Amino acid sequence: MIKTPLCDLLGIEHPILQGGMAWVSTPRLVAAVSEAGALGILGAGNAPPNLVLEYIRQVKQLTSKPYGVNFPMFSPYVQDIVDICARERVPVVTTGAGNPSAYIPVMKAAGIIVMPVVASAALAKRLARAGADGLIAEGGESGGHIGDVSTMALVPQVVDAVQIPVVAAGGLADGRGLAAALALGAVGIQMGTRFICTTECEVHFNYKDMIVKAGDRATITTGHSLGHPVRALRNPMTRKFEEMEKTGLSEAQLIEFGTGKLRLAVEGNVTEGSFMAGQSCGLINDILPAAELIQRILSQAEEMLVRLPQYVRGSEQASQSRNS
Ligand SMILES: Cc1cc2nc3c(=O)[nH]c(=O)nc-3n(C[C@H](O)[C@H](O)[C@H](O)COP(=O)(O)O)c2cc1C
Repeated sequence: MIKTPLCDLLGIEHPILQGGMAWVSTPRLVAAVSEAGALGILGAGNAPPNLVLEYIRQVKQLTSKPYGVNFPMFSPYVQDIVDICARERVPVVTTGAGNPSAYIPVMKAAGIIVMPVVASAALAKRLARAGADGLIAEGGESGGHIGDVSTMALVPQVVDAVQIPVVAAGGLADGRGLAAALALGAVGIQMGTRFICTTECEVHFNYKDMIVKAGDRATITTGHSLGHPVRALRNPMTRKFEEMEKTGLSEAQLIEFGTGKLRLAVEGNVTEGSFMAGQSCGLINDILPAAELIQRILSQAEEMLVRLPQYVRGSEQASQSRNS
C-alpha cells in the first residue's frame, strides 16, 4: 500500500490525481477516478458557470468521495466559478495557467483545499506564502498549456522551495512515474494524458486511438509567439498553426484560429482539432477502466519501490545496526 501525506490532506486512498482537463475531464471520468480511491478533477476550462454548476452536481450524484474542480486563470468566469465552488462545498480546487493568489483566502474560508498548478519555483514560493495547501509542479512534458522546465528538474526544485506538499505532473503515465515522483520528493502524481485513454473518459474514440498509436515524439508545442505554448499531437491543425506563427500573423488572428480547437478534438475531428496530449503518449498502449489503470499503476510503483533498495549496498547491515 502506498500512502503519503497527500492521502491524508485530501482524504483519498491513493496518491494519484486525475488532472483537470477542459472539455475532457467531465463528470463520468471524475466520479470513476474518485470512486477508485484517487482524486478525479473536473475541468471547468472556460465553460460558462451554469454548465460548471451542472457538472459539479452530476459528480455529487455519482460519488460521495472527494473530488476536485480545476479552472485556468484565463477563464473569463474565474470569480463565478470560485463562488460556485464555495457554495457547493467543493472539497478541492486546482488552478492552472496563472497566479490564483487573490482567490485563495475566499476559497480557504469556504473550507476548500487549494492546490494550484505551478511551472516554476518562483510561483511556487509566492503561492505557498499566499496560503495554498499544496502545489502541483507540472513539467513541460505534459499535455495542454505548459511551462518550459521539465518535470525531472522542476519537481525537486519546487519541493526545496516550499514547506507544503508537492504533487508531480508531466510525462507520468505508469507506476515507474509514481515511484520516480516519490523519489524526487513529491507526495503523489497528477496525470492528464493517461486518463484520456480510459473507458470512462467521454472524448471521441479518435482522440484515444491517436494517443494509443502515438510514439514518444508524436507531440509538438505551438503558441510560443503568444507566450502560451500548448503541447498537442502533431496533425494538420498543428502544422497549420506552426505555419501561421512563422508568417507573423497577429496575436489576435492566431488566438482566433486556435479558439475552440480542443473541443473539435474532443468531437473527434482529426484534421482541425487540437489533440492536446503530453510526451507520455508513447507509454500509453491501451484504453481501460480508470479503476484498473489506478490499480496497475499502484502495483507497478510498489514493485519498483520494493526493488530499489537492492541498489543500496550494505543497506541490510545498516538497517540491522540501526535496529539493534
Ligand atoms: C487535453 C488536456 C487538457 C488540459 N486542460 C487543463 C486545464 O483546463 N487546466 C489545467 O490546469 N491543466 C490542464 N491540463 C493539464 C493536466 O491537468 C495535467 O496537469 C497534465 O496533463 C499532466 O501531464 P501529462 O499530460 O503528461 O499527464 C490539460 C491536459 C490535457 C492533456
